[in-house]
Amino acid sequence: MKDRINGMLAEVAQAELTSPEAVEAFRVAYLGRKGKIKDLMAAFKEVPGDQKRELGPMLNTLKQAVEQKVQDAQQATVVRPQASGEDATRPSGGVPLGTHHPLQVVRREIVDIFQNMGFAVAEGPEIEDDWHVFSGLNFPPEHPARDMQDTFFVERDPDILLRTHTSSVQVREMEHRDPPMRLIMPGRVFRNEAISARAHCMFHQIEGLYIDKGVSFADLKQTLLHFARCFFGPDTDIRLRPSYFPFTEPSAEVDVYWGLKTEVDKRITKGTGWLEILGCGMVDPNVLKASGIDPEVYSGFAFGMGIERITMLRYQIGDLRHFFENDRRFLDQFAGER
Ligand code: PHE
Repeated sequence: MKDRINGMLAEVAQAELTSPEAVEAFRVAYLGRKGKIKDLMAAFKEVPGDQKRELGPMLNTLKQAVEQKVQDAQQATVVRPQASGEDATRPSGGVPLGTHHPLQVVRREIVDIFQNMGFAVAEGPEIEDDWHVFSGLNFPPEHPARDMQDTFFVERDPDILLRTHTSSVQVREMEHRDPPMRLIMPGRVFRNEAISARAHCMFHQIEGLYIDKGVSFADLKQTLLHFARCFFGPDTDIRLRPSYFPFTEPSAEVDVYWGLKTEVDKRITKGTGWLEILGCGMVDPNVLKASGIDPEVYSGFAFGMGIERITMLRYQIGDLRHFFENDRRFLDQFAGER
């Protein structure tokens, strides 16, 4: 009996179980109802009592060795589900890259052109008070632009509002800088307008301001001509039409010559060939005074343009709403623009 047990221990240690079928056959052979362990147990019952003391623990050791062997072999031969034809060594397809938003592309280009002329970038808050958006810019109290129809108010008395133009940044900069100053001020503005293909309640402007001794209207015109030729091409012509803004005097609107070659040209220029791109003028002495700059010593010019409008011209985009819908089919068309 002792030899049988020792012989089996050696057999178990040497058994090579390399497949799930082999493990199962081994388990049945040893631990099954008619297996070798059962046989030994039956024989064990018959041995004289004085031998049981020695044989009992040996039998237990054998049983445990068999159970351990089966458990280890089951784990080692477990069949993993076949991977679904994937090749783990294949390089991934890469993360799809986003594109620059067309408004961002145009904004950067405009800012670059003015930076090359020595203008520095400044920004201001979107939530403003009445002073920086209206009063400091010489808006009379009854001016229609203050009307509820245009302005989103956050609070009344004293008024806190969403800025309706980036001219508010002019006031902020004039308050805390001393001339000379040459600034380009991009930003988002808000007006209470019904949303359509041509108007939105939120859009972007770029404001310019130049204040120094002896700044003239000729400087304004030449600066804007240079900008138009950089942006629209070297043969571009501009024209200035008299206009009115409370904060500039004299004031003008600037058109670029777009041409009348196609039906589209005729439609977007209303048959004139000219397209308005910005408002400008010489900073009103009242505005300089309100911000603590002496109009007897200094003069300056300011201008403001809508980024959406210029972007629509540049890329022939027919509907303003495309800019804010974040439809990939629209945005992906600007892949590669910087
Ligand atoms: N703030 C004006 C507007 O929103 C544009 C402008 C800026 C005009 C600076 C003159 C000078 O229409």
